[in-house]
This record gives sequence, C-alpha cells and structure tokens, in this order.
Amino acid sequence: MLVHWNAMHALYLAAVWLHLLALAVWLGGMLFLALVLVPATRRPEQRLLAPALFHQVATRFRWVGWACLALFIVTGLIMLGYRGYGLADAFNGRLWQGAFGHTLALKLTLVAVILAISAVHDFWLGPRAVAQWQRDPTGPAGQRLRRQASWIGRITLLLALVVSVLGVLLVRGWVAG
Ligand code: HEM
Repeated sequence: MLVHWNAMHALYLAAVWLHLLALAVWLGGMLFLALVLVPATRRPEQRLLAPALFHQVATRFRWVGWACLALFIVTGLIMLGYRGYGLADAFNGRLWQGAFGHTLALKLTLVAVILAISAVHDFWLGPRAVAQWQRDPTGPAGQRLRRQASWIGRITLLLALVVSVLGVLLVRGWVAG
C-alpha cells in the first residue's frame, strides 16, 4: 500500500513539474517571439531575410507549442486523478463544485479558447500570412494578414498569462486561510 502510494505521489510530482516546465517553454517561447523575434524581423535591414527566417522559426515553434498544450492536458488529468477526480466527476458535476471546481471550470474554458484560436493562428492565418509575405515582402495583403496573425498571437499570450494565474489560484485559493 505504501509502495503504491509512493509511486502515485512520484507520478503526481513528475506531472506538476512537467506542467510547470511546459508553461516555461510555451510562455517563454511566445514571449521571445513577441518581444524579440517579431520586432527584429520588422527592421528594414532584415526585409529580405525576414520572411524565410520567420517561416522556419514559426513552423518549428508550432510543434513545440502543441507538444506543450498536449503536455498540459495529460499532466493536468494525472494531477486531477491524484486529487481523487475521475472522468465520471466531470459529468456528474462533482469536478465543478466549490472554489476549486469553479476556478478549474474557468481555467479549462480559457484553455479551450486557447486551443481553438491557436489552431486558427498556427494552421490557417499564420501560414497564409507568411506565404503572402514571402511572395511580396512589402505588399499590403501580406501586411494585413501578418497584423491579424499578430493579434491572435497577442490574445493567446494574454490568455496564457490569465490561465497561469488561474492555475496558481486553483492550488492556493483566492483568499488566505
Ligand atoms: C494553457 C494551459 C495551462 C496552463 C498555462 C496551466 C498552468 C498551471 C499553473 C501555473 C498551475 C499552478 C501550479 C502551482 O501553483 O503549484 C497549474 C496547476 C494545475 N493545473 Fe494547469 N495549466 C494549464 C492547463 C491545464 C489543464 C488542461 C488541466 C486539466 C486537464 C490542468 C489542471 C491543473 C491542476 C489539476 C493543477 C493543480 C496541480 C496540483 O495538484 O497542485 N491545467 N496549472
């Protein structure tokens, strides 16, 4: 029994660590793109190199991002299992009760929004914007698509910050005591 409990606890600790590692990689990567790479590629002297570089970086980071999102879900489910929740609790309502349940419901709703808008950004708008940019580096059509893709990227970044705060509130509560 003790061995079983220890193995479960080790799995739980590994899941918490991987959940936070995914946050560091995903949020850190998005901040790097928004604060460092995008402004650098907007400089006039990078005009010719920027579209190809951006294409390479964005397609590589896309898979890093989706791996992190998958890791959030898998490790999140493991942590909920350790806390005594199973799939049935999502349907009978037990999972959504109390401060923990309400915070989790809000957090998972925002995660669903992140998954939806990331799919639009990563598989539709982003590739179209980069393709247009590569065809015509200074044309208005490419610039418009890039602006739209940038906005979705910024909203995702904002939601990521809100979801990470909700994660902390989930564990530590909204009020002291
Ligand atoms: C964008 C995705 C996500 C982000 C940024 C995120 C972030 C976080 C953060 C920062 C914590 C706080 C850890 C602490 O204060 O100790 C946390 C905890 C937690 N998250 Fe997430 N999370 C995400 C997705 C998910 C998903 C999809 C689930 C469930 C399927 C989930 C379930 C949990 C649970 C159960 C905890 C509590 C861990 C514990 O037992 O201490 N998270 N999350």
